[in-house]
Amino acid sequence: MIQTGTQPGHLIDIDQLSKREMEELFQQADAWKNGHGMGTNVYAGRFVANLFFEPSTRTRLSFEVAERKLGLEILQLDEMTSSVAKGESFYDTLRTLASLGVHVAVVRHSGGGLLEKMARQSLGLALINAGEGSGGHPTQALLDCYTLRHHFGQLSGLRVAIVGDILHSRVARSNVRALNAFGARPVLSGPASMRDPELESIAPYLPFEEAIREADAVMMLRVQLERHQETLFSSVAAYRKHYGLTLERLERMRSHAVILHPGPFNRGVEIDGELVEHPRSKIFEQKANGVWIRMAALQRALEGGL
Ligand code: CP
Repeated sequence: MIQTGTQPGHLIDIDQLSKREMEELFQQADAWKNGHGMGTNVYAGRFVANLFFEPSTRTRLSFEVAERKLGLEILQLDEMTSSVAKGESFYDTLRTLASLGVHVAVVRHSGGGLLEKMARQSLGLALINAGEGSGGHPTQALLDCYTLRHHFGQLSGLRVAIVGDILHSRVARSNVRALNAFGARPVLSGPASMRDPELESIAPYLPFEEAIREADAVMMLRVQLERHQETLFSSVAAYRKHYGLTLERLERMRSHAVILHPGPFNRGVEIDGELVEHPRSKIFEQKANGVWIRMAALQRALEGGL
């Protein structure tokens, strides 16, 4: 459990949120999505800074869309042209932003518990984790659960197979915790070289065919080649053959089961291209829901909690 220090609006990882708090975020996301509740531009004149020290398309741009819908003034900090490149510490960077009147910093970086450490200090702004190394990606887990809840009506009892590069996946780590909090039944699967014994203490591991055959939802994970220190599988063709979601495997899944993937995908590796756009794929709905969930997370940060 994260101790959030003096700033209740921090969102560092999913396990700091209770089931009730996640449900409140879903309700707020619903309000934004359905056009009810407060109008947009409600936070005009307030400032958010986006600090992305690792690549991102979905998270960075859906935060930016969310920020624009809320009427926030947006600052983008570029690592290479900022004083971070001259060695300025992350703490000093955040304190500088707070002095300039920034209310929220949305941060993606390579991990190591830095955000948790920062959140214990008095920064004068709220932090939102936009994906931290292999550690956590709370807004991704929220949007995934939100998407599943919309489709199935509830999360309790839902069997969700999370498949692939579990060892390097912040998405798996945050999703398992969020799904468990809702009483869902996450299971893990993938190559032996990509298993994570620690995560398996809270979500069982099943062989791939068994995991997808019994699941209500199958969440395929990207093979994160950039985080591999060594070769963890023999070839792309071998990965697809043993662990890829193909049309043949979709036909062995339960007829109501849906497909998720946080993106970006390696088409033809962990998922075949035709399944990305398949009628049973929720992948583009996940992306769209990211905007509403991130509006709710930003609102929580600006209000110091919902
Ligand atoms: N799902 C996700 O975090 O994608 P990006 O890396 O493109 O933000």
